[in-house]
Amino acid sequence: MKAIVLSGGKGTRLRPLTYTGAKQLVPVANKPILWYGLEAIAACGITEIGIIISPETGDEVKAKTGDGSQFGAQITYILQDQPAGLAHAVKIAQPFLGDAPFVMYLGDNLVEGCLDGLVDQFKTNTLDALTLLCEVPNPTAFGVAEVDKTGRILRLVEKPKVPPSNLALVGVYLFSPKIHEAIAQIQPSARGELEITDAIQKLIDLNHKVEAFKLRGWWLDTGKKDDLLEANRLILDNYLQSSIRGDVDERSQISGRVEIGEGAKIVNSTIRGPVSIGRHCHIENCFIGPYSSIADGVTLVETDLEHSVVLQQAKIVGIHQRIVDSVIGQRANLRVAPQRPKALRFMIGDDCQIDLA
Ligand code: TTP
Repeated sequence: MKAIVLSGGKGTRLRPLTYTGAKQLVPVANKPILWYGLEAIAACGITEIGIIISPETGDEVKAKTGDGSQFGAQITYILQDQPAGLAHAVKIAQPFLGDAPFVMYLGDNLVEGCLDGLVDQFKTNTLDALTLLCEVPNPTAFGVAEVDKTGRILRLVEKPKVPPSNLALVGVYLFSPKIHEAIAQIQPSARGELEITDAIQKLIDLNHKVEAFKLRGWWLDTGKKDDLLEANRLILDNYLQSSIRGDVDERSQISGRVEIGEGAKIVNSTIRGPVSIGRHCHIENCFIGPYSSIADGVTLVETDLEHSVVLQQAKIVGIHQRIVDSVIGQRANLRVAPQRPKALRFMIGDDCQIDLA
């Protein structure tokens, strides 16, 4: 069995971060989102992994993720020149996939637990498609499946007005090579994309075996800011282990589970976990509250912050109001300016969102 991980796309919902970087590389608990999927795939014994990349962010994904040896896998990068849909990504991956069955994993999704149960059901029942489903409170916003008592999928509907169930399609699928025939028979949807839901519906219409696997844990699509913060909270809550590699001076207080990377300096600050602080950060006269992830090279001075994600080399100095529920981009600079008149002065990139108290 092989795997493809989709790391192309437009990422419009996570602008402005996606103007300058791949959303799949945004760190959650200081690890790129993409890597959680790669680890889950490698953990169930799949070693041949194709990563779909876009012309805009492909080089960055390649440089960061490498040849796969750190995951015990071999990674092949597959360029998709346009984000023409999830089924289009499968189509261009066909030379890599050959006639192997495969896992398809959306690179901006996080799924709790391992994939072993899915792989077992797929093999035992000799399926042509197995989709991961998760109960959601708002099925009208998702692709939704109608499932019979035996777990067989009867019908898929994209963003239904009257949902046949509350079971949404989650970003993990398993396919036999029959999916390639189904994709060859579908047309682009109204939004101009080759939809994987249409391809799976085609398999169902052709009487191939399509089943569901109901996820019991959590699942998050990190494509939007609040989902990204929620993913960060869940990962810190469930997986963070204390490890202090940097320097913490005697005036600082650390409580709860806190990870501090090499070369980081914590001066006269209170850190209340779960908190992950990357390498070579400088944190002075700060309060860092629970569910915060601070990436490598960040400077925080006289700042109170919690439930937030701060990306590489951002600098926040002297903000005397608590920062919460925020995502701060790479190299962003927030400070209280010394000059008069006292006023707010901005240099804000496109599509930013600023909520002042
Ligand atoms: P989406 O989040 O559905 O699409 P998107 O990345 O274009 O985001 P937005 O809606 O905010 O504009 O994509 C799910 C995953 O699949 C994500 O990791 C990007 C990837 N993808 C591809 O690799 N190729 C594609 O053609 C599409 C549509 C998505």
